[in-house]
Amino acid sequence: MGLGKNKITGETKIPRHIAIIMDGNGRWAKRRFMPRSYGHKQGMERMIGLMERAFALGVDYITVYALSTENLKRPQEELEGLFNLFRNHFKEYMARICARGVRLRAVGDVSLLPDDVQRILRQSEEDTAHFEGKGINVAVAYGSRNEIVHAVNAAVEKGEKVTEESFSRLLYTADSPDPDLIIRTGKEVRLSNFLLYQAAYAELYFTDKMFPDFSDKELDKAIVEFSRRTRRFGKTDEQIEKKK
Ligand code: IPE
Ligand code: IPE
Ligand code: MG
Repeated sequence: MGLGKNKITGETKIPRHIAIIMDGNGRWAKRRFMPRSYGHKQGMERMIGLMERAFALGVDYITVYALSTENLKRPQEELEGLFNLFRNHFKEYMARICARGVRLRAVGDVSLLPDDVQRILRQSEEDTAHFEGKGINVAVAYGSRNEIVHAVNAAVEKGEKVTEESFSRLLYTADSPDPDLIIRTGKEVRLSNFLLYQAAYAELYFTDKMFPDFSDKELDKAIVEFSRRTRRFGKTDEQIEKKK
């Protein structure tokens, strides 16, 4: 393996929008004989570090899968631990990132969350609403099927037929471009109800690393791998070459 193989250089194509399925916090903690909540705390801190790295590299949008609609069926004790992270740390951590001019959005059915957690998310959205061009989507109480059904019902209520573009604007992620790169940590090779519509042409990257171990270097590696791939969007290599 050549030295610098996974280094980002001026030639590296940087994805505009990276979405991350932050999986493996629980197993990471279990291996250390620690409670799952400890893994979630470490995961949240790692996420902040990764966001800083990604924005420094020129990424414009980051979507983080923090809690799925299905995760809401986990034991109450684990859920309370997760909500406490939002209560105690979310604002401070996010303020640090958003100070760079990043707009925060909570994407998901936020009404399923406790009232005070909803308020924290809404407040962060309001505080950053004036920023344009860079964004963080925090997917909480998020499920792609729920999102699609919600969008279909919104279209039916309006009584209008949709196009691919107008439908995108009915999704929770309306204001972000489609993800270019979706990273999943934690060894599983599946999407678990994440961005099913938006992921149509995303490059997928799976790693065995548990999320708290997904270092800045690992992120760089994923981006370098993304940069090496040929995105054809259904066309031939010759057509792609001609466009260059
Ligand atoms: C992902 O980590 C974070 C959430 C789903 C909240 P997990 O909690 O799923 O961790 P594992 O998969 O059990 O290791
Ligand atoms: C996906 O992880 C959801 C998040 C990372 C928030 P899960 O741990 O819930 O996924 P499954 O159940 O293994 O598919
Ligand atoms: Mg998991």
